[in-house]
Amino acid sequence: MKIALASDHAGYDLKMVIARYLSQEGIDFFDFGCGAGESVDYVDYGAKAIRQVVSGEFDRAILFCGTGLGMAIAANKFPGIIATPCWNEFTAKASRTHNNSNCLCLGGRVLSEELALAIVKIWLENEFESGRHERRINKIKELEKENFKKT
Ligand code: RB5
Repeated sequence: MKIALASDHAGYDLKMVIARYLSQEGIDFFDFGCGAGESVDYVDYGAKAIRQVVSGEFDRAILFCGTGLGMAIAANKFPGIIATPCWNEFTAKASRTHNNSNCLCLGGRVLSEELALAIVKIWLENEFESGRHERRINKIKELEKENFKKT
């Protein structure tokens, strides 16, 4: 699995923690920025990473900002992206098994390193359960088709 990482300044330190973990585990990833010491707009860096998932170059993304919220809002503007801010083990598991999340959004100002690592592990290990959840995701896809028409 190839994972695209990106952060703003508020998510940078947590991104580095997760990048170290992915390296240790031998999981393929690329960091689309920002770099250390920069002050940036989360949307610019989230979009860089998410475009790679939309194009199929990367399988999933993990995005970091202060809360995880801005990154999720921006990422969910892209077709096919299911971006989920997660804040504990339960939401991490449900985001995969129920929502089929392909973009995890984490808040550097709200999560401890330990909790963020636990969330990432759960998010990587769990699979979508399909069944009734697939029906719901398909309805969301219909909404996307209806509302995200390119002009
Ligand atoms: C940056 O100050 C902060 O607004 C950003 O990291 C994020 O939390 C936005 O949702």
